[in-house]
Amino acid sequence: MAVNTIVIIGFMGVGKTSVGTFLAKKTKVAFCDTDKMIVKSQGATPQEIFQQKGEVFFRQVESKILEQALAQPGIISTGGGIVELSRNLELLRQSKATIVYLYGELAQLMPRLLPNQKRPLLEHSTSRELAQLWQRRDQTYRNVADLVIDSTAKRNNMIAAEIKLGVALWQQHKLTAREIADSSHLLSLEREISNLTRQKRNLEQQVRNRRMVNVIDRSFKALKP
Ligand code: S3P
Repeated sequence: MAVNTIVIIGFMGVGKTSVGTFLAKKTKVAFCDTDKMIVKSQGATPQEIFQQKGEVFFRQVESKILEQALAQPGIISTGGGIVELSRNLELLRQSKATIVYLYGELAQLMPRLLPNQKRPLLEHSTSRELAQLWQRRDQTYRNVADLVIDSTAKRNNMIAAEIKLGVALWQQHKLTAREIADSSHLLSLEREISNLTRQKRNLEQQVRNRRMVNVIDRSFKALKP
């Protein structure tokens, strides 16, 4: 099992693949996505596999793919249902990889998920069923994760920075998930403060420029015969 591996878990639509791709590019490490590996190995999308061979078959394939992915160093993004099999939870727990739960509030995910033709589990789900699934999985993601990163209202670069910080704090200093969550919150507040400071400076400059224009305007008017 590879030590320098980060596994991103989390609910459908939270952005595991795009954050994982971004972070892998930034840190120049290999990236893989279990859904894409499944498509490659089966020649069919998760939706097609669900339809043609059923969820049980899909989960078996997914589990083998997870095992293969965990053998390589790099960043692995997983399908939202990776926590459905207890074998996968064992694989994740036994691996030396750092497991990152990319958390997204259901209210934030809902518009992205319903209606959804590409995701088999959502095809026939009501929003109530989706909420129940989210709640059940949220608990399992938390149980298996080493750290939780809140994706709410954040861009990929911010989430990637929080994952990098979180993984370093976890691997090198063995901080608890709670301490890491606080550090990550602090980082996002610092980023917000520096953005607001920049905005404030720009605004002040605009006000100064406008004032100058007014002064010049008045002076010109005063010079007119
Ligand atoms: C699933 C999530 C999907 C895909 C499959 C099943 C799930 O991946 O693996 O449709 O059970 O939550 P994403 O989380 O990338 O959508």
